[in-house]
Amino acid sequence: MGIHFDAKLKVFHLQGKDTSYCFQIQREGYITHLYWGRKIKKYHQSNPVSFVDRGFSPNPDPSDRTFSLDTLPEEYPGYGNTDFRTPAYQIQLENGSTISDLRYKKHFIFKGKPKLNGLPATYIENESEAVTLDVILEDHLIGLSVILTYTVFDSFNVITRSVRFENHGVQPIKILRALSANVDFRDDQFDFLTLYGSHINERNIARRPIVPGNQMIESMRGASSHQQNPFFALLRKDANEVYGEVYGFNLVYSGNFLAQVEVDQFHTARASIGINPFDFSWLLEQEELFQTPEVVMVYSNKGLGDMSRTFHEIYRTRLCKGTYRDLIRPILINNWEATYMKFTDDKIIEIAKAGKEAGIELFVLDDGWFGKRNNDKSSLGDWVVDTHKLPHGLADLATKIRNLGMEFGLWFEPEMVSVDSNLYRSHPDWCIHVPNRSRSEGRNQLILDLSRKEVCDYIIEAVSTVLASAPISYVKWDMNRHMTEVGSAALPPARQRETAHRYMLGLYRVLGEITDGFPGILFESCSGGGGRFDPGMLYYMPQTWTSDNTDAVSRLKIQYGTSLVYPPITMGSHVSAVPNHQVHRVTSLAMRGNVAMSGNFGYELDLTKLSIEERKEVKKQVRFYKEIRHIIQFGNFYRLLSPFAGNETAWLFVSDDRTEAVVGYYKVLAQPNEPFISLRFKGLNSEYLYQHIETGRVYGGDELMYAGIAIPKLKGDYTSLLWRFKKVEEE
Ligand code: DGJ
Repeated sequence: MGIHFDAKLKVFHLQGKDTSYCFQIQREGYITHLYWGRKIKKYHQSNPVSFVDRGFSPNPDPSDRTFSLDTLPEEYPGYGNTDFRTPAYQIQLENGSTISDLRYKKHFIFKGKPKLNGLPATYIENESEAVTLDVILEDHLIGLSVILTYTVFDSFNVITRSVRFENHGVQPIKILRALSANVDFRDDQFDFLTLYGSHINERNIARRPIVPGNQMIESMRGASSHQQNPFFALLRKDANEVYGEVYGFNLVYSGNFLAQVEVDQFHTARASIGINPFDFSWLLEQEELFQTPEVVMVYSNKGLGDMSRTFHEIYRTRLCKGTYRDLIRPILINNWEATYMKFTDDKIIEIAKAGKEAGIELFVLDDGWFGKRNNDKSSLGDWVVDTHKLPHGLADLATKIRNLGMEFGLWFEPEMVSVDSNLYRSHPDWCIHVPNRSRSEGRNQLILDLSRKEVCDYIIEAVSTVLASAPISYVKWDMNRHMTEVGSAALPPARQRETAHRYMLGLYRVLGEITDGFPGILFESCSGGGGRFDPGMLYYMPQTWTSDNTDAVSRLKIQYGTSLVYPPITMGSHVSAVPNHQVHRVTSLAMRGNVAMSGNFGYELDLTKLSIEERKEVKKQVRFYKEIRHIIQFGNFYRLLSPFAGNETAWLFVSDDRTEAVVGYYKVLAQPNEPFISLRFKGLNSEYLYQHIETGRVYGGDELMYAGIAIPKLKGDYTSLLWRFKKVEEE
């Protein structure tokens, strides 16, 4: 691992664990991309960029018609001086000009990885884990410095990138576009893979060939969104789950983003990602700086599965942080689908008692405990316990639950305000809005203007007061609408388009202060389920409620799609009642359990309404999950059969030392004359013998991986298996 600069060739060579990334300073100080892929020992210029005279590609130096930025792979392209492709950044000067011209000035290579100012990012624990390169580019006419930051890690095939703008000139500079990374591939033989969806239908997989022109995904919703995840991968045409070259890009950001790939006239592919330039600008006064979010870029030559495991590992160990990062997560029961907002403290205790009896470790009181919150029309913002519902208060309820031997958790939606709330009545200008325009409501609520310091301070104070008032060890942090009429009463006209990004900076400050203030609390983020399942939120809160859809069949796709980037330990997944409340499907308790146990496990139903038999089964599931959760939560994840490809899904979890494994197999519908099915495992040690705990039979790791294991005939619809395997010394 290391970063080397060849002063003769002027080539930077970033070497990660098994990856190389190279770029070069050309004449005039422009920087061109050379290579990203499998690790090479030294880059000797085997495929230098070529300079050719092409029609309609103009030349900054009129004496050389072979030099045009339009024909070069660039590292961080600008607008206005001969490149006609989509730029990575654009600025505007006081005179209205939007042209800039960045050239190499200097660079620094240093051990470690600095923190990003006000933004979440991957981190290191020890300087020797990473090396960082800062390349300083300068437009000396206007005093603009742009610092491209790259980090490589010793133990991950990851390069992180981010960009910092500094105004050292004499006039303000308006940033119109500031993407976090750009990679100009030298050809266009790729497919574009993205994760799309909607509320209760998150992270479906779309894969399509790239074609000339721009293909892009984005969010303009003020959140990373259910609709598109801030992730994409470029795959070589022959790449699949286990084979081939894959380039993954994931933005560590929870707000508006843009990710795009442009195929140009010469069949090169320009990939870029960052804050969405739509309705964004940032005024940079003299000596101010602007920091873009980080992009985590993963290269694999072993297919999507390997790419995912790299994202999983770095996110689990060097993005998520805090007390719970390395701790087994508790099995929880949440009262949302059991009672919605209609509950009494007796009812809550009754559900908690049933949970305790089943071995569940944490009770979570969801929406409805504060203000006059009997429906979703009121009280967001008034974080004071409703003494009609909980006459003895929160501390009393939490203590009673703790006395049962369970932890107590609480739901909040701190970024929001109901029009019918004391907070809104006192501060009607504290929400995101535009003067004289209507304030569109979503779920009867408005969004607090987190671009304002006093609003953030209020949230920190209000939430902290509740957290300090009772023995609370878990928080579910929800967010249930997207931004409309975006504007802030506190910003001047020239800065209105900063509102959405300033909101994110405010949110990150709030999350940082609250999570640091309560290090013993486990935080789970949520946005109507998985509307903000992104690395920005995971930095502060090490798990996310994956989807409001708890139907086991729907969850196969949702969890499978989510696993492309995010590790199973981060995916809240619960067993709920049937008929399912979102899609009204009836699946067996076993199927619901086996799907939910493939993530961060819990229940979301009224256990007291189950039959004695069902309660016994729940108890068994809880016991079973306690035995396997170290493998599910900290093991390596392998996808075996895709729910997007057919009727069956299968996945496998293998412990780090490969001595234990858990396989999940799910069949949605019964088929006539079903073919025989055997599952071929991955990631085992071929030298080891493994006992199949459910049958007592012993198989070789090689046998399980190469010959596979037969799946018995499962009768009926919605059937599944969750099997354990453990290394044994002899047959
Ligand atoms: C949306 C969440 O995703 C649900 O789990 C629940 O907490 C509700 N909000 C409560 O309003």
